[in-house]
Amino acid sequence: METPADPQGATHIPVMLAECIEGLAVRPGGRYIDGTLGGGGHTEAILAHSAPNGQVMGLDADPAAIRRVGQRLADDVAQGRLHLVHTAFEQMAQIAAEHNFVPVDGILLDLGLSSFQLETPERGFSFAQDGLLDMRFDPTSRESASQLLDRLDEKEIADLIYGYGEERMSRRIARQIVEQRPIRTTSQLAALVERAVGGRKGQRIHPATRTFQALRIAVNDELGQLKRVLGQTLELLRPGGRLAVISFHSLEDRIVKVWMREESRAYVPDPTSIYGGRTVEPRLGLLTKGPLVASDAEREQNPRSRSAKLRIAEKK
Ligand SMILES: C[S@@+](CC[C@H](N)C(=O)[O-])C[C@H]1O[C@@H](n2cnc3c(N)ncnc32)[C@H](O)[C@@H]1O
Repeated sequence: METPADPQGATHIPVMLAECIEGLAVRPGGRYIDGTLGGGGHTEAILAHSAPNGQVMGLDADPAAIRRVGQRLADDVAQGRLHLVHTAFEQMAQIAAEHNFVPVDGILLDLGLSSFQLETPERGFSFAQDGLLDMRFDPTSRESASQLLDRLDEKEIADLIYGYGEERMSRRIARQIVEQRPIRTTSQLAALVERAVGGRKGQRIHPATRTFQALRIAVNDELGQLKRVLGQTLELLRPGGRLAVISFHSLEDRIVKVWMREESRAYVPDPTSIYGGRTVEPRLGLLTKGPLVASDAEREQNPRSRSAKLRIAEKK
């Protein structure tokens, strides 16, 4: 499979591709939802493994992703094997019902942002390239990161940077942001953070990494979207259907881990009951005890894969 490239030369290498195809148990004629289409790398592999008549519904909040994959995989769209929808994945159940695309054999979520988004300066995701401080997956929605920083007060900004970025210097950064508002560009924010936290001596990552991650999560309500979609996947999967989720930081992995654990429990403790709890029918079976991580070879070849954690479960 070729790596999807865009006209500006950016590429997005799909993470843990073989593990996803195996984990989703992709089979000829199967029907799958890719909730995070991105560059379409996973979708393309699912189409190949479900040939000749398998189908994929690919969703993305970013209209540019839908356009790009629509062009690249135009034949699959024309053959009715690939259905592309511009939407946030929290609308998954509704969109699938509208398209008569229920039940499905597998659902994939490959969370976060694509290399196309990161490497397009005007999308404002990168502290390494100058651009407007935007960070929206869907440029037609809500407010940009810059507008969010205009609206919040100092404590709210500090809490956001601490909560979503796990950044210990959040208060200092928030104070600087409020003093120097409006913050309109990525370089302005990156330089401000670097000054606030005192440079990058001995640090493995750029000092603005955590602040940028926190803002991106907030702007796109990433954790809320994830929490709202997980339950929907149970309505959409057929019994025996698979859910695969790749996360890239501990906040989202924790949400997936806890939800999968809850849904796979056969016993629910009840501290108010003298019996101590009750047995229930689990709705999910865990296929991965701990998360799968990328092989050494993949980590070497694709640095993005280094923080990836893949969890797979099966609908009962
Ligand atoms: C890591 S990329 C997916 C890459 C893809 N698996 C591939 O192989 O090319 C994540 C994509 O999901 C999209 N995305 C993130 N959160 C979303 C959400 N809540 N709803 C819809 N799309 C979302 C982003 O716009 C981005 O294009």
